[in-house]
Amino acid sequence: NKGKYEHYMQKEIHEQPESLTTTMRGRLIRGGSSKAKSVLLGGLKDNLKTIRRSRRIVFIGCGTSYNAALAARPILEELSGIPVSMEIASDLLDRQAPIYREDTAVFVSQSGETADTLLALQYALENGALCVGITNTVGSAIARHTHCGVHINAGCEIGVASTKAYTSQIAVMAMMALVIGDDTISSQARRNAIIDGLVDLPNKVREVLKLDQEMKDLAKLLIAEQSLLVFGRGYNYATALEGALKVKEVALMHSEGILAGEMKHGPLALVDENLPIVVIATRDGCFSKQQSVIQQLHARKGRLIVMCSKGDASSVCPSESCRVIEVPQVEDCLQPVINVIPLQLLAYHLTVLRGHNVDQPRNLAKSVTTQ
Ligand code: UD1
Ligand code: M6R
Repeated sequence: NKGKYEHYMQKEIHEQPESLTTTMRGRLIRGGSSKAKSVLLGGLKDNLKTIRRSRRIVFIGCGTSYNAALAARPILEELSGIPVSMEIASDLLDRQAPIYREDTAVFVSQSGETADTLLALQYALENGALCVGITNTVGSAIARHTHCGVHINAGCEIGVASTKAYTSQIAVMAMMALVIGDDTISSQARRNAIIDGLVDLPNKVREVLKLDQEMKDLAKLLIAEQSLLVFGRGYNYATALEGALKVKEVALMHSEGILAGEMKHGPLALVDENLPIVVIATRDGCFSKQQSVIQQLHARKGRLIVMCSKGDASSVCPSESCRVIEVPQVEDCLQPVINVIPLQLLAYHLTVLRGHNVDQPRNLAKSVTTQ
């Protein structure tokens, strides 16, 4: 039932304040004034010791689920101190990459039925790794075959383009980082700030959803373009990949997510006065580096659309012609949840305006159960 919405993708984008609330329900424990706040993930509690002792955590997934893991990787590395590596399921299988008993392998999948992810799970089980699932589907193959895991509880997702599952996956993996990370005094303030940030996240999502009309206007400007680049780095490298994936799969427009640190190693050659470029430059440890990327793209006459934190428009925009998308600022590791939303809206409106099928893009299936 689409309710007041025209498409499931639209409904699922706008439902994110509620889906995130459900994802976090019963899992954030807010202590009294003197007591520490904490996170409880019932599905992981019996295996936390093993996870903390593992030599490496390997995230495995496809498409949007892979991107969600990429968004959560920095906070997991920071709080756990354990090396975290990333594997696209098909590539892990192609390489028959080494997986050891000392590894924790985390399988991320909305449907829990993706063929490559499931085969990678079998491979990791045979190699003796502890296998953890993060899925939206209770009773799915991945939920059943992993040793333990977490249901993201985002509610049924119908649109082929994954939207609300992506933001709930990031929220779950941030909570996972909080439960795995050791509870040292030195990280206590940071941890509390993230927990506060999670509690307030649905409100901030509600705020960013107000950009709907602005994104529709932007889509009108971009309707006839051949291509769109999205530059990000740090926590928002994943946002660049995910924004580009959405534009590609539903709007059927070529789009590429680019790690801004790689700009001079090739992508800069594409820049001219015609190609539209989204640069994600919200406040975090990479902000000044992104300011310099904007300057350099501007020097090559790049057609810039800058996403920045509220109030930063004048400090990030190099000229009148630069468009800005101002988003609410949240704790740095949660910012990818906010930043992806204008890009989801942009992909949605581009698709409608270009007259393509929103909920069932050509050639794609919701759950890819064949290799
Ligand atoms: C569970 C209940 C929830 C209840 C709550 C109360 C289920 C599905 N969840 O939620 O309804 O409100 O307790 O305490 O009954 N698992 C995997 N692989 C996966 C995902 C999950 O093995 O990919 C396992 C978990 O390790 C766990 C079980 O499935 O044993 C349920 O996981 P989850 O729903 O995340 O647990 P809770 O949040 O504790
Ligand atoms: O169900 P899964 O999360 O395992 O699916 C993985 C990908 O097939 C999926 O995310 C795909 O990339 C989506 N259509 C993206 O919107």
